[in-house]
Amino acid sequence: LSLLDGEKGDRGVEGPSGGLGLPGVKGDMGAKGFMGDKGDRGRIGVPGTKGEKGDLGPKGDKGDMGDVGMKGNEGIQGEKGSQGEKGMSGPIGPCTPAIQSAFSACLNDSFPAPDLPIPFPDVITNRQGHFNPNLGIYHAPVNGTYVFSYHAAVSSRVLKIGLFYNFFPIARTTEITNEATTSHQVVLHLYRGDMVWLQVKDRTTNGMFNSPEHKSTFSGYLLYPDSCELPAIRTGPPAGPTVKPTYMWDPPTNTTTKP
Ligand SMILES: *[C@@H]1O[C@H](CO)[C@@H](O)[C@H](O)[C@H]1NC(C)=O
Ligand SMILES: *[C@@H]1O[C@H](CO)[C@@H](O)[C@H](O)[C@H]1NC(C)=O
Repeated sequence: LSLLDGEKGDRGVEGPSGGLGLPGVKGDMGAKGFMGDKGDRGRIGVPGTKGEKGDLGPKGDKGDMGDVGMKGNEGIQGEKGSQGEKGMSGPIGPCTPAIQSAFSACLNDSFPAPDLPIPFPDVITNRQGHFNPNLGIYHAPVNGTYVFSYHAAVSSRVLKIGLFYNFFPIARTTEITNEATTSHQVVLHLYRGDMVWLQVKDRTTNGMFNSPEHKSTFSGYLLYPDSCELPAIRTGPPAGPTVKPTYMWDPPTNTTTKP
């Protein structure tokens, strides 16, 4: 700097405006601003495309019971079942009154008369009274099957004796031994009112003997009746023949068959 420097001049006139400068360097990023106000609601978008089919959902709850259905058609008959077991036996039934008839009687007098039924007045048994001891005739009280027997003591004479059913000799026996017995037993089917008796042949063959130790008996009983129905037997058996019949040793000639 020199020693002659004048004084400082006056301020020059303002020069023309300079040309445009070069752009400056980009500054540093500013601090984050404050949050703005909420914007307005946007417009409804266009519908999207249909999605894919979803997975099968879980099983639902059990539904309510339905109404009762209509009756079905009748089925075909089943097979027959097998036989059941035998049941227990029932109680004892009521007692039914039996038709009863039985007799047994002894000869009272030796050497009975021929051509007549032999009387057996000495009765052992005759509760129903179907045997007439003085006539010696048994009357059947019901249709049924009967048993008759005789055991005759023989002494002093030959004995020819027969068991007669309605005048027909069913069985005849001959005993020629002294101090012996002859006997027979038959089963007969009789109808109510039929008659059974014993008879000797004649006066030379009536050796039927009676003593306390020579007993001759005539017996009979109902084995079983034809029917269980009780007949009206309270009045006793039917009466015998009204006209006195002829009792013959030989069977009636006018009958060809047994009664
Ligand atoms: C048997 O005979 C005797 C003597 O003949 C008689 O006294 C008796 O009365 C008779 N008995 C009957 C039951 O008929
Ligand atoms: C007994 O037998 C006779 C002859 O067959 C018959 O007419 C009658 O009805 C019989 N009586 C009874 C009770 O069965």
